[in-house]
Amino acid sequence: MTFDFASLPTLDGFPRAGLDHGPTPLVPARRLGEALGVPRLLMKRDDVHPLGVGGNKLRKLDFHLGAALADGVDTVITFGALQTNHGRQTAAACARLGLRCELILTADVPRSGDAYERSGNLPLDLLFGASVHLCADGEEADVTYRQLCAEGGKIATIPVGGSNPLGVLGYLSATRELAVQLADLGVERARIIAPHASGATSAGLALGSALLGSLDLDVACVSHPLDEARPNVAQLVAGAAELLGIDAPGLGHVWMNDTTIGAGYGIPAPGTWDAVRLFGRTEGVVLDPVYTGKAAAAFVEWAAAGRYSPEETVVFLHTGGLPGLFGYAPEFMAEVQK
Ligand SMILES: Cc1ncc(COP(=O)(O)O)c(C=O)c1O
Repeated sequence: MTFDFASLPTLDGFPRAGLDHGPTPLVPARRLGEALGVPRLLMKRDDVHPLGVGGNKLRKLDFHLGAALADGVDTVITFGALQTNHGRQTAAACARLGLRCELILTADVPRSGDAYERSGNLPLDLLFGASVHLCADGEEADVTYRQLCAEGGKIATIPVGGSNPLGVLGYLSATRELAVQLADLGVERARIIAPHASGATSAGLALGSALLGSLDLDVACVSHPLDEARPNVAQLVAGAAELLGIDAPGLGHVWMNDTTIGAGYGIPAPGTWDAVRLFGRTEGVVLDPVYTGKAAAAFVEWAAAGRYSPEETVVFLHTGGLPGLFGYAPEFMAEVQK
């Protein structure tokens, strides 16, 4: 039994913005695999893309901005935390497409100082020509949003993280891409490891793997606790299935856990930096302390608990986030100099 490509619905009816640059690399991670006792370890490098330093949001934005262009939109508004990767990728994509980009960013992570407020993703937002609106809280963000809408223009509003049923299609399509790469390597069954924050990444993987079969999915919650993340994924999968006119599949193949979330979104947990350093030391790969570092910490924890058999092919999905590391430069330096 291998992947059932015929069961995937066509996505031809959904306009795309042309951000796709072909398959992202799927590479062996031999030294990391040895360190973790997971010999058949691969890394899917969604951090590698020529636009805007890359990352998982570009796959969702291909659909969001495809719809926006088809609607004749000239302005894109989206939201996030100060160090949002989604905002930076939206800004880069808008630059390439010639769209005005308005980023409404809220200071909702308990971090401040030069690195957090003036480095990392923020300078890149400006470099890519976005207008950045810094808001103290959600209320101020609402007021700013209403003001921007009142200014006129043909506006597309993209939700936080690009996560709604349309955004899920980005990772439905990515699951197909991954299954083709695995099949080319002669791999007939695999387990994917991915992070969950706003949800469309894991929901797209959950939907894609349910339809294709022969794929399991382990999800590390990095932002919302398990009791919020689980229904979020189920809702996004159901919404995407409705959009596609198919029945929502069961999600028995999806396992989720929040053991490495720590004190909450944007706050590195004890194992986060260890995992960031392990990936750097063994593979020369850069993770960030908000998303991929926490997913990596979860993977380390699960591997140590014996969750993966040596025969199993495991794919760690690298979702990007490199600039975010520099938003945490002082903490990061203290860790690497230990
Ligand atoms: C680098 C990175 N990884 C993972 C995620 C989580 O993806 P999602 O929001 O689709 O759950 C994000 C979201 O902001 C991200 O920036």
